[in-house]
Amino acid sequence: MANEIEKENAAAAAMDYVEDGMTIGLGTGSTAKFFVEYLAEEIADGLVVRGVPTSEQTRRLADSLGVPLVDVEQVDRIHLTVDGADEVDQQAQLIKGGGAALLREKIIANASDLMVVIADSSKSVETLGKFPLPVEVTPFGYTITAKKVYDALCKAGVLKPMIKVRTGPGHKPIVTDGGNFILDCQCGIIPDAPMTAALLSNVPGVVEHGLFIDIARTVIVGSEDGATVFEY
Ligand code: 5RP
Repeated sequence: MANEIEKENAAAAAMDYVEDGMTIGLGTGSTAKFFVEYLAEEIADGLVVRGVPTSEQTRRLADSLGVPLVDVEQVDRIHLTVDGADEVDQQAQLIKGGGAALLREKIIANASDLMVVIADSSKSVETLGKFPLPVEVTPFGYTITAKKVYDALCKAGVLKPMIKVRTGPGHKPIVTDGGNFILDCQCGIIPDAPMTAALLSNVPGVVEHGLFIDIARTVIVGSEDGATVFEY
């Protein structure tokens, strides 16, 4: 419950970055949900913005709350993206993809003038890696890709990574909005996140990975009675 209050307070603080006329990337997950709800309240009070959802789940949520949406293909500028994270370190490097939306999340965040991360305090870490790193891969040849992902992680200095394809009902691989599978890579510690990111990006079959390096510039960590803003 404390985490829910922290998430909500972080989302509320992110509203300070919203200005009339903005096109805003809408993140995915339980923290981003609070932000979309706050945004909807302000829209009902006259704020004029439009959203670009980072998942079908967020599209449905935003639609149901009356947040005007714009097709990503029609957008020439995204002023702001507000999204959650699974882990954030002190250089604003992130692990994302716990909700399997990392591909669209990264495309939208990377194209934005500013990415603001909103998180509860449990997401702040010294070193990334305790949360299993999601890697989105094409279904074709995914077991081969998984072996190459293992090799890339070892080369990046990860000790004994353990890789599992994420499954859902009936133990079938879950399929992302982009039609791909997710490999969850238990790393323990990721000693060099930029190197890991670069090596993973080089593996054929990897569509995208959940390491966000040099994308987020502002991190808002919620607390029980407010939020702290970190600028990078
Ligand atoms: C979805 C994500 C989410 O932002 C991340 O999993 C955090 O979710 P939550 O706010 O529910 O803790 O990356 O792909």
